[in-house]
Amino acid sequence: MPSRLWLLLAVPLLLRLLKRRPGPSREQLVPPKHEHVLLLGASSGIGRDLAHAYARRGAFICLVARRKEALDKVKEECVAHGLEPSRVLVVPANITSTEDLLNVRAAVEKAWGGLDTLHILAGVPSTSTLMEATGVTLKPADPAGPAGPTGSSSTTTTSASAKFKFERTDGKSKSSSPDKAGMDRIAVEARACAEINYVGTVLALACFLPLLANSSRSPAVHHLSSVAATIPAPCRAIYSATKAAAFMAFESCRVECEGSGVRFFSLLPGTIANDFRTKTAVAETGGRDETKLPIRHSWEKLLLQPEQVVRAILSNLALPPAPQPLIPCAPFSWIPQLRQPPPSVVHLPFMYAAARWMGMTWLGWGYVEPSARRKYGLPN
Ligand SMILES: NC(=O)c1ccc[n+]([C@@H]2O[C@H](COP(=O)([O-])OP(=O)(O)OC[C@H]3O[C@@H](n4cnc5c(N)ncnc54)[C@H](OP(=O)(O)O)[C@@H]3O)[C@@H](O)[C@H]2O)c1
Repeated sequence: MPSRLWLLLAVPLLLRLLKRRPGPSREQLVPPKHEHVLLLGASSGIGRDLAHAYARRGAFICLVARRKEALDKVKEECVAHGLEPSRVLVVPANITSTEDLLNVRAAVEKAWGGLDTLHILAGVPSTSTLMEATGVTLKPADPAGPAGPTGSSSTTTTSASAKFKFERTDGKSKSSSPDKAGMDRIAVEARACAEINYVGTVLALACFLPLLANSSRSPAVHHLSSVAATIPAPCRAIYSATKAAAFMAFESCRVECEGSGVRFFSLLPGTIANDFRTKTAVAETGGRDETKLPIRHSWEKLLLQPEQVVRAILSNLALPPAPQPLIPCAPFSWIPQLRQPPPSVVHLPFMYAAARWMGMTWLGWGYVEPSARRKYGLPN
Protein backbone atom coordinates (compact mmCIF):
# COMPACT_ATOMS: atom_id res chain seq x y z
CA MET A 1 0.00 0.00 0.00
CA PRO A 2 1.46 3.38 -0.90
CA SER A 3 2.75 5.26 2.14
CA ARG A 4 0.32 8.20 1.56
CA LEU A 5 -2.66 5.88 1.93
CA TRP A 6 -1.25 4.53 5.22
CA LEU A 7 -1.00 8.09 6.42
CA LEU A 8 -4.60 8.79 5.42
CA LEU A 9 -5.80 5.80 7.45
CA ALA A 10 -3.48 6.47 10.39
CA VAL A 11 -4.59 10.09 11.03
CA PRO A 12 -8.26 9.38 11.89
CA LEU A 13 -7.18 6.34 13.90
CA LEU A 14 -4.70 8.44 15.88
CA LEU A 15 -7.32 11.18 16.44
CA ARG A 16 -9.78 8.56 17.70
CA LEU A 17 -7.20 7.12 20.09
CA LEU A 18 -6.31 10.59 21.36
CA LYS A 19 -9.97 11.61 21.71
CA ARG A 20 -10.68 12.51 25.29
CA ARG A 21 -13.63 10.72 26.77
CA PRO A 22 -16.03 12.90 28.77
CA GLY A 23 -15.32 12.91 32.50
CA PRO A 24 -17.54 10.90 34.83
CA SER A 25 -21.13 12.08 35.06
CA ARG A 26 -22.34 13.32 38.40
CA GLU A 27 -24.42 10.17 38.80
CA GLN A 28 -21.24 8.09 38.56
CA LEU A 29 -19.63 10.19 41.29
CA VAL A 30 -22.75 10.26 43.49
CA PRO A 31 -24.98 7.28 42.70
CA PRO A 32 -28.67 8.26 42.98
CA LYS A 33 -29.29 5.78 45.80
CA HIS A 34 -26.50 7.39 47.86
CA GLU A 35 -27.39 10.99 47.09
CA HIS A 36 -28.33 13.20 50.06
CA VAL A 37 -30.70 15.92 48.89
CA LEU A 38 -32.02 18.97 50.73
CA LEU A 39 -35.15 20.57 49.26
CA LEU A 40 -35.90 24.07 50.58
CA GLY A 41 -39.52 24.71 49.56
CA ALA A 42 -40.76 21.11 49.33
CA SER A 43 -44.35 21.34 50.57
CA SER A 44 -45.88 22.05 47.15
CA GLY A 45 -45.17 22.76 43.48
CA ILE A 46 -41.81 21.91 41.97
CA GLY A 47 -40.26 21.07 45.36
CA ARG A 48 -42.91 18.41 45.91
CA ASP A 49 -42.49 17.12 42.33
CA LEU A 50 -38.71 16.91 42.81
CA ALA A 51 -39.22 15.04 46.10
CA HIS A 52 -41.29 12.45 44.21
CA ALA A 53 -38.60 12.12 41.53
CA TYR A 54 -35.86 11.63 44.13
CA ALA A 55 -38.08 9.14 45.99
CA ARG A 56 -38.36 7.05 42.83
CA ARG A 57 -34.54 7.11 42.56
CA GLY A 58 -34.18 5.92 46.16
CA ALA A 59 -32.26 8.99 47.41
CA PHE A 60 -32.08 10.41 50.95
CA ILE A 61 -34.24 13.52 51.08
CA CYS A 62 -34.82 16.31 53.56
CA LEU A 63 -38.09 18.21 53.06
CA VAL A 64 -38.18 21.82 54.27
CA ALA A 65 -40.94 24.48 54.14
CA ARG A 66 -43.10 26.35 56.63
CA ARG A 67 -46.23 24.13 56.56
CA LYS A 68 -45.56 20.96 58.57
CA GLU A 69 -48.79 19.16 57.62
CA ALA A 70 -48.09 19.70 53.93
CA LEU A 71 -44.54 18.34 54.40
CA ASP A 72 -45.84 15.26 56.23
CA LYS A 73 -48.15 14.62 53.30
CA VAL A 74 -45.25 14.91 50.83
CA LYS A 75 -43.32 12.41 52.98
CA GLU A 76 -46.25 9.96 52.75
CA GLU A 77 -46.31 10.41 48.97
CA CYS A 78 -42.56 9.73 48.78
CA VAL A 79 -43.03 6.52 50.74
CA ALA A 80 -45.86 5.58 48.36
CA HIS A 81 -43.32 6.04 45.54
CA GLY A 82 -41.25 3.28 47.15
CA LEU A 83 -38.85 5.22 49.40
CA GLU A 84 -38.00 3.85 52.86
CA PRO A 85 -39.47 6.18 55.51
CA SER A 86 -36.07 6.31 57.25
CA ARG A 87 -34.66 8.04 54.16
CA VAL A 88 -36.99 11.06 54.50
CA LEU A 89 -36.38 13.88 56.96
CA VAL A 90 -39.05 16.51 57.58
CA VAL A 91 -37.84 19.79 59.07
CA PRO A 92 -40.36 22.67 59.07
CA ALA A 93 -38.52 25.95 58.71
CA ASN A 94 -38.83 29.47 57.38
CA ILE A 95 -36.06 30.21 54.88
CA THR A 96 -35.88 33.80 56.12
CA SER A 97 -35.00 32.76 59.68
CA THR A 98 -31.31 32.20 60.43
CA GLU A 99 -32.28 30.15 63.48
CA ASP A 100 -34.52 27.87 61.41
CA LEU A 101 -31.83 27.38 58.77
CA LEU A 102 -29.26 26.47 61.43
CA ASN A 103 -31.75 23.90 62.81
CA VAL A 104 -32.12 22.39 59.33
CA ARG A 105 -28.33 22.18 58.97
CA ALA A 106 -27.99 20.56 62.40
CA ALA A 107 -30.69 18.01 61.52
CA VAL A 108 -28.96 17.13 58.22
CA GLU A 109 -25.53 16.85 59.85
CA LYS A 110 -26.91 14.67 62.65
CA ALA A 111 -28.84 12.33 60.35
CA TRP A 112 -26.49 12.12 57.37
CA GLY A 113 -23.18 13.75 58.31
CA GLY A 114 -23.18 15.63 55.00
CA LEU A 115 -25.03 16.78 51.91
CA ASP A 116 -24.67 16.28 48.13
CA THR A 117 -27.39 18.43 46.61
CA LEU A 118 -29.12 21.59 47.76
CA HIS A 119 -32.22 22.89 45.97
CA ILE A 120 -33.30 26.46 46.75
CA LEU A 121 -36.91 26.47 45.58
CA ALA A 122 -38.75 28.53 48.19
CA GLY A 123 -40.35 31.53 46.59
CA VAL A 124 -43.49 33.67 46.55
CA PRO A 125 -45.16 35.52 43.66
CA SER A 126 -46.38 39.08 43.17
CA THR A 127 -48.56 39.28 40.08
CA SER A 128 -50.20 42.70 39.86
CA THR A 129 -48.72 45.73 38.17
CA LEU A 130 -46.87 48.00 40.57
CA MET A 131 -49.44 50.79 40.27
CA GLU A 132 -52.49 48.51 40.51
CA ALA A 133 -51.19 47.19 43.82
CA THR A 134 -51.33 50.76 45.15
CA GLY A 135 -54.90 51.27 43.88
CA VAL A 136 -54.04 53.24 40.75
CA THR A 137 -54.63 52.06 37.21
CA LEU A 138 -53.82 53.20 33.67
CA LYS A 139 -56.85 54.13 31.55
CA PRO A 140 -56.93 55.23 27.88
CA ALA A 141 -56.39 59.01 27.79
CA ASP A 142 -59.14 61.18 26.36
CA PRO A 143 -57.52 62.76 23.29
CA ALA A 144 -59.63 65.93 23.71
CA GLY A 145 -58.60 66.79 27.25
CA PRO A 146 -58.97 67.64 30.12
CA ALA A 147 -55.20 68.03 30.07
CA GLY A 148 -54.05 71.41 28.96
CA PRO A 149 -50.74 72.28 27.39
CA THR A 150 -47.74 72.86 29.65
CA GLY A 151 -47.91 76.37 31.04
CA SER A 152 -51.71 76.65 30.76
CA SER A 153 -53.89 77.31 33.79
CA SER A 154 -55.07 73.68 33.80
CA THR A 155 -53.96 71.76 36.93
CA THR A 156 -53.28 68.49 35.05
CA THR A 157 -50.93 68.15 32.15
CA THR A 158 -50.24 64.88 30.34
CA SER A 159 -47.32 64.08 28.14
CA ALA A 160 -47.99 64.82 24.49
CA SER A 161 -47.19 61.18 23.66
CA ALA A 162 -49.37 59.66 26.44
CA LYS A 163 -51.95 57.11 25.30
CA PHE A 164 -52.97 56.29 28.88
CA LYS A 165 -53.38 58.20 32.09
CA PHE A 166 -53.29 57.21 35.76
CA GLU A 167 -56.53 57.04 37.74
CA ARG A 168 -57.38 55.89 41.26
CA THR A 169 -59.44 52.67 41.12
CA ASP A 170 -61.58 53.53 44.20
CA GLY A 171 -62.86 56.72 42.52
CA LYS A 172 -62.84 58.38 45.97
CA SER A 173 -60.48 61.14 45.10
CA LYS A 174 -59.73 63.37 42.14
CA SER A 175 -56.06 62.73 42.77
CA SER A 176 -54.47 60.07 40.60
CA SER A 177 -51.76 59.42 43.22
CA PRO A 178 -51.89 56.48 45.66
CA ASP A 179 -53.09 57.12 49.21
CA LYS A 180 -51.42 55.94 52.42
CA ALA A 181 -53.26 52.59 52.40
CA GLY A 182 -52.07 51.95 48.84
CA MET A 183 -48.49 52.84 49.72
CA ASP A 184 -48.63 50.57 52.81
CA ARG A 185 -49.97 47.68 50.71
CA ILE A 186 -47.08 47.92 48.30
CA ALA A 187 -44.58 48.17 51.15
CA VAL A 188 -45.86 44.92 52.72
CA GLU A 189 -45.85 43.10 49.37
CA ALA A 190 -42.37 44.28 48.31
CA ARG A 191 -40.81 43.50 51.70
CA ALA A 192 -42.40 40.02 51.97
CA CYS A 193 -41.35 39.12 48.44
CA ALA A 194 -37.79 40.40 48.87
CA GLU A 195 -37.41 38.72 52.25
CA ILE A 196 -38.29 35.25 50.93
CA ASN A 197 -37.08 35.33 47.31
CA TYR A 198 -33.85 37.27 47.81
CA VAL A 199 -32.82 37.25 51.50
CA GLY A 200 -33.90 33.60 51.87
CA THR A 201 -31.72 32.60 48.91
CA VAL A 202 -28.57 34.29 50.18
CA LEU A 203 -29.11 32.92 53.71
CA ALA A 204 -29.51 29.39 52.35
CA LEU A 205 -26.33 29.71 50.27
CA ALA A 206 -24.33 31.00 53.23
CA CYS A 207 -25.68 28.33 55.56
CA PHE A 208 -25.09 25.24 53.40
CA LEU A 209 -22.19 25.92 51.01
CA PRO A 210 -19.34 24.84 53.34
CA LEU A 211 -21.23 21.68 54.37
CA LEU A 212 -21.81 20.77 50.71
CA ALA A 213 -18.21 21.47 49.73
CA ASN A 214 -16.76 19.47 52.63
CA SER A 215 -18.95 16.40 52.53
CA SER A 216 -19.75 15.44 48.93
CA ARG A 217 -17.74 13.90 46.08
CA SER A 218 -19.74 16.08 43.70
CA PRO A 219 -21.53 18.88 45.56
CA ALA A 220 -24.22 20.82 43.70
CA VAL A 221 -26.54 23.69 44.48
CA HIS A 222 -29.56 24.47 42.32
CA HIS A 223 -31.56 27.69 42.50
CA LEU A 224 -35.00 27.74 40.89
CA SER A 225 -34.90 31.25 39.48
CA SER A 226 -37.28 32.57 36.81
CA VAL A 227 -37.21 34.01 33.33
CA ALA A 228 -38.51 37.14 35.10
CA ALA A 229 -35.03 37.50 36.63
CA THR A 230 -33.52 38.37 33.25
CA ILE A 231 -36.39 39.77 31.14
CA PRO A 232 -38.49 42.69 32.46
CA ALA A 233 -42.01 41.33 32.79
CA PRO A 234 -45.27 43.28 33.19
CA CYS A 235 -47.37 42.29 36.22
CA ARG A 236 -44.15 41.10 37.79
CA ALA A 237 -42.46 44.38 38.85
CA ILE A 238 -41.89 43.34 42.45
CA TYR A 239 -41.41 39.62 41.75
CA SER A 240 -38.94 40.20 38.88
CA ALA A 241 -36.81 42.50 40.98
CA THR A 242 -36.55 40.03 43.85
CA LYS A 243 -35.79 37.11 41.53
CA ALA A 244 -33.18 39.20 39.70
CA ALA A 245 -31.53 40.11 43.01
CA ALA A 246 -31.40 36.46 44.06
CA PHE A 247 -30.16 35.38 40.62
CA MET A 248 -27.31 37.90 40.66
CA ALA A 249 -26.37 36.98 44.24
CA PHE A 250 -26.29 33.31 43.23
CA GLU A 251 -24.24 33.99 40.10
CA SER A 252 -21.80 36.28 41.94
CA CYS A 253 -21.38 33.66 44.66
CA ARG A 254 -20.61 31.09 41.93
CA VAL A 255 -17.76 33.29 40.70
CA GLU A 256 -16.54 33.87 44.27
CA CYS A 257 -16.54 30.14 45.04
CA GLU A 258 -14.75 29.02 41.83
CA GLY A 259 -12.43 26.19 42.79
CA SER A 260 -14.50 25.05 45.78
CA GLY A 261 -15.77 22.10 43.73
CA VAL A 262 -19.43 23.10 44.16
CA ARG A 263 -21.49 23.08 40.95
CA PHE A 264 -23.84 26.10 40.82
CA PHE A 265 -26.88 25.81 38.58
CA SER A 266 -29.79 28.22 38.01
CA LEU A 267 -32.85 27.19 36.03
CA LEU A 268 -34.88 30.14 34.68
CA PRO A 269 -38.27 28.76 33.66
CA GLY A 270 -41.16 30.65 32.17
CA THR A 271 -44.63 30.20 33.62
CA ILE A 272 -45.30 26.72 35.00
CA ALA A 273 -48.77 25.11 34.96
CA ASN A 274 -49.19 24.90 38.75
CA ASP A 275 -50.74 26.94 41.60
CA PHE A 276 -47.86 29.38 42.15
CA ARG A 277 -49.57 32.36 40.47
CA THR A 278 -52.78 31.94 42.47
CA LYS A 279 -50.87 32.83 45.68
CA THR A 280 -49.70 36.19 46.97
CA ALA A 281 -46.44 37.14 48.67
CA VAL A 282 -48.15 36.83 52.05
CA ALA A 283 -50.90 34.22 51.55
CA GLU A 284 -51.65 30.87 49.97
CA THR A 285 -54.56 32.34 48.01
CA GLY A 286 -55.61 35.65 46.51
CA GLY A 287 -53.11 35.95 43.65
CA ARG A 288 -54.26 36.47 40.07
CA ASP A 289 -55.19 33.23 38.39
CA GLU A 290 -53.96 34.32 35.00
CA THR A 291 -55.30 31.21 33.34
CA LYS A 292 -58.79 32.63 33.99
CA LEU A 293 -58.05 36.09 32.56
CA PRO A 294 -59.26 36.82 29.05
CA ILE A 295 -55.74 36.68 27.68
CA ARG A 296 -56.03 35.78 24.04
CA HIS A 297 -52.60 34.75 22.96
CA SER A 298 -50.61 31.82 21.77
CA TRP A 299 -48.52 32.05 24.92
CA GLU A 300 -50.40 29.31 26.72
CA LYS A 301 -48.52 26.85 24.56
CA LEU A 302 -45.33 28.09 26.24
CA LEU A 303 -46.79 27.14 29.63
CA LEU A 304 -44.38 24.60 31.10
CA GLN A 305 -45.57 21.33 32.56
CA PRO A 306 -44.03 20.62 35.99
CA GLU A 307 -42.53 17.34 34.65
CA GLN A 308 -40.57 19.32 32.03
CA VAL A 309 -39.14 21.54 34.75
CA VAL A 310 -38.17 18.58 36.96
CA ARG A 311 -36.56 16.84 33.96
CA ALA A 312 -34.56 19.96 33.08
CA ILE A 313 -33.28 20.31 36.65
CA LEU A 314 -32.27 16.67 37.03
CA SER A 315 -30.71 16.30 33.59
CA ASN A 316 -28.61 19.44 34.05
CA LEU A 317 -27.45 18.34 37.49
CA ALA A 318 -26.47 14.93 36.05
CA LEU A 319 -23.91 16.43 33.62
CA PRO A 320 -20.21 15.80 34.27
CA PRO A 321 -19.30 18.50 36.80
CA ALA A 322 -15.70 18.96 35.58
CA PRO A 323 -14.98 21.30 32.64
CA GLN A 324 -14.98 19.33 29.38
CA PRO A 325 -12.83 20.09 26.28
CA LEU A 326 -14.63 22.15 23.65
CA ILE A 327 -12.74 20.14 21.00
CA PRO A 328 -12.29 16.68 22.49
CA CYS A 329 -9.14 15.89 20.46
CA ALA A 330 -5.48 16.34 21.33
CA PRO A 331 -3.76 18.75 21.31
CA PHE A 332 -6.83 20.99 21.91
CA SER A 333 -8.12 18.87 24.79
CA TRP A 334 -4.79 19.46 26.62
CA ILE A 335 -5.36 23.25 26.78
CA PRO A 336 -7.24 24.19 30.00
CA GLN A 337 -8.53 27.44 28.46
CA LEU A 338 -10.38 25.38 25.84
CA ARG A 339 -12.41 23.54 28.44
CA GLN A 340 -15.94 24.47 29.39
CA PRO A 341 -17.80 23.73 32.62
CA PRO A 342 -21.43 22.55 32.51
CA PRO A 343 -23.87 25.45 32.07
CA SER A 344 -24.61 27.49 35.18
CA VAL A 345 -27.67 29.26 33.71
CA VAL A 346 -30.40 27.66 31.59
CA HIS A 347 -33.59 29.38 30.35
CA LEU A 348 -36.62 27.17 29.78
CA PRO A 349 -37.91 27.14 27.06
CA PHE A 350 -34.75 28.15 25.22
CA MET A 351 -36.53 30.95 23.28
CA TYR A 352 -36.43 33.06 26.46
CA ALA A 353 -32.62 33.05 26.25
CA ALA A 354 -32.97 34.52 22.75
CA ALA A 355 -35.54 37.06 24.01
CA ARG A 356 -33.08 38.14 26.70
CA TRP A 357 -30.47 39.05 24.08
CA MET A 358 -33.07 40.59 21.76
CA GLY A 359 -34.14 42.78 24.67
CA MET A 360 -30.79 44.57 24.47
CA THR A 361 -31.45 45.64 20.87
CA TRP A 362 -34.28 47.65 19.24
CA LEU A 363 -36.13 44.33 18.99
CA GLY A 364 -36.70 44.62 22.74
CA TRP A 365 -38.84 47.76 22.42
CA GLY A 366 -40.31 46.80 19.07
CA TYR A 367 -41.16 43.13 19.64
CA VAL A 368 -40.30 41.55 23.02
CA GLU A 369 -41.96 44.17 25.24
CA PRO A 370 -45.22 44.53 23.25
CA SER A 371 -45.45 40.71 23.20
CA ALA A 372 -44.96 40.60 26.97
CA ARG A 373 -47.65 43.26 27.45
CA ARG A 374 -50.05 41.28 25.25
CA LYS A 375 -49.23 38.11 27.20
CA TYR A 376 -50.49 39.71 30.42
CA GLY A 377 -53.51 41.39 28.86
CA LEU A 378 -52.15 44.94 28.98
CA PRO A 379 -53.12 47.26 26.10
CA ASN A 380 -50.45 48.29 23.61
N1 LIG B 1 -44.74 28.35 39.06
C1 LIG B 1 -44.24 29.20 38.20
O1 LIG B 1 -44.90 29.66 37.25
C2 LIG B 1 -42.78 29.60 38.34
C3 LIG B 1 -42.11 30.11 37.22
C4 LIG B 1 -40.77 30.45 37.34
C5 LIG B 1 -40.13 30.30 38.56
N2 LIG B 1 -40.80 29.81 39.64
C6 LIG B 1 -40.09 29.68 40.92
O2 LIG B 1 -40.20 28.34 41.34
C7 LIG B 1 -40.07 28.28 42.76
C8 LIG B 1 -41.05 27.26 43.29
O3 LIG B 1 -42.35 27.66 43.00
P1 LIG B 1 -43.52 26.62 42.70
O4 LIG B 1 -43.98 26.84 41.33
O5 LIG B 1 -43.10 25.27 43.10
O6 LIG B 1 -44.66 27.21 43.68
P2 LIG B 1 -45.17 26.80 45.11
O7 LIG B 1 -45.97 25.56 45.02
O8 LIG B 1 -45.83 28.00 45.68
O9 LIG B 1 -43.86 26.45 45.95
C9 LIG B 1 -43.20 27.36 46.77
C10 LIG B 1 -42.58 26.60 47.92
O10 LIG B 1 -41.80 27.51 48.69
C11 LIG B 1 -42.14 27.34 50.05
N3 LIG B 1 -41.92 28.58 50.76
C12 LIG B 1 -42.46 29.80 50.50
N4 LIG B 1 -42.03 30.69 51.39
C13 LIG B 1 -41.19 30.03 52.23
C14 LIG B 1 -40.42 30.42 53.36
N5 LIG B 1 -40.44 31.67 53.82
N6 LIG B 1 -39.66 29.48 53.96
C15 LIG B 1 -39.65 28.21 53.52
N7 LIG B 1 -40.34 27.78 52.45
C16 LIG B 1 -41.12 28.69 51.83
C17 LIG B 1 -43.61 26.91 50.04
O11 LIG B 1 -43.96 26.20 51.21
P3 LIG B 1 -44.65 26.83 52.51
O12 LIG B 1 -45.71 27.76 52.06
O13 LIG B 1 -45.16 25.60 53.22
O14 LIG B 1 -43.57 27.49 53.29
C18 LIG B 1 -43.60 25.97 48.85
O15 LIG B 1 -43.17 24.71 49.25
C19 LIG B 1 -40.28 29.70 43.27
O16 LIG B 1 -39.05 30.20 43.75
C20 LIG B 1 -40.71 30.49 42.04
O17 LIG B 1 -40.20 31.80 42.06
C21 LIG B 1 -42.11 29.45 39.55
